[in-house]
Amino acid sequence: MTFQNGILPIDEFIEVALYDKNFGYYSQKNPFGKKGDFITAPLISSLFSEMITVWAISYWIALGKPKKFSFVELGPGNGAFCKIFCRTIKNFPEFEKSVKIYLLEKSQKLIKTQKSFIKNKNITWIKNLKEVKNGPILFFGNEFFDSIPIKQFQVNNSKVFEKFISLKKGKFEKFIFKKTSKKIIKKLNNLNLLKKNGIIEYPQKGLKILELIVKKIHKQKGGILLIDYGYKKSHGNDTLQSLKSQKKNIYYKNIGKADITYLVNFELLNKFFIKKKLFFNNIVDQSFFLKKLGIIERAEILSKKKTFKEKSDLYYRLDRLLSENKMGSLFKVIFAANKKTKFKIGFY
Ligand SMILES: C[S@@+](CC[C@H](N)C(=O)[O-])C[C@H]1O[C@@H](n2cnc3c(N)ncnc32)[C@H](O)[C@@H]1O
Repeated sequence: MTFQNGILPIDEFIEVALYDKNFGYYSQKNPFGKKGDFITAPLISSLFSEMITVWAISYWIALGKPKKFSFVELGPGNGAFCKIFCRTIKNFPEFEKSVKIYLLEKSQKLIKTQKSFIKNKNITWIKNLKEVKNGPILFFGNEFFDSIPIKQFQVNNSKVFEKFISLKKGKFEKFIFKKTSKKIIKKLNNLNLLKKNGIIEYPQKGLKILELIVKKIHKQKGGILLIDYGYKKSHGNDTLQSLKSQKKNIYYKNIGKADITYLVNFELLNKFFIKKKLFFNNIVDQSFFLKKLGIIERAEILSKKKTFKEKSDLYYRLDRLLSENKMGSLFKVIFAANKKTKFKIGFY
């Protein structure tokens, strides 16, 4: 089967469209920023990254300030978050001395971008989680999970069909539905995904990665903080979407030239973590989380030294992160850890 002609399940189609070494979107261009196709929270305002960094330091304090501590960023994009993380921890020398920073990135092109952008001796780029050996681990991913391809199934009165895409000469031809194996149906059932008719989205690849992460968390202690575009209650909708030059694109058009994402099902993540015996606090909106961490107070402090123009820019960016109709409630935050903990900062 090639990219040019063939029938691919939705997840394999997305895999090729995003990550193929020759045609893949993330292998060809830098999608981030004003000139790119989309802007993520770390690129909107450094306040976002500062707040998450301070949250990570608070978690480390709650663990009793372990002398060895690992921070793993999942899918660092162009490195914007990590750069601010490295800058912020300079104000917390005890933490800076204890932490080892790891970046897990799939795209070779983005690894190069990150290496030239961040430049810090305390960072190790890893291909495999086995390389992380230092004490308790905190995993962090912003818009990581939504970039891992998902499978789609059509469910009609308990009959389950997997959705495939037929490609001809590298272009979309039609959708094809095939009966699903009993093994997959069992997996979907275990996660309560078959209750609704309609399109069921199953992040098989994402859950495999989370499984490895959870194993690591159980072995070395720690937790995982995920922030993503998503919803709290399962439904039967198709949420695959695509952006090209910050405009909507049909996800099976402009293959390899546009990003493809979906809305993350946080109810499913929650169920998954509980099944894997992790403890989780709550699922909250990004605005709730950042406000609880003091983002508004921090903006007020920073704005005192700024000109009027700089202040307007700062608050314009803050509004994008916090407004209900912008990222504030579209994005959700979840934290799961190996132990029931009193550490609830940001969630209550
Ligand atoms: C939408 S971008 C988000 C980038 C960044 N976190 C931000 O907020 O700007 C998704 C990132 O995850 C990376 N990625 C996707 N799947 C991955 C995987 N399986 N392992 C490691 N990185 C992955 C992509 O290459 C990209 O860097």
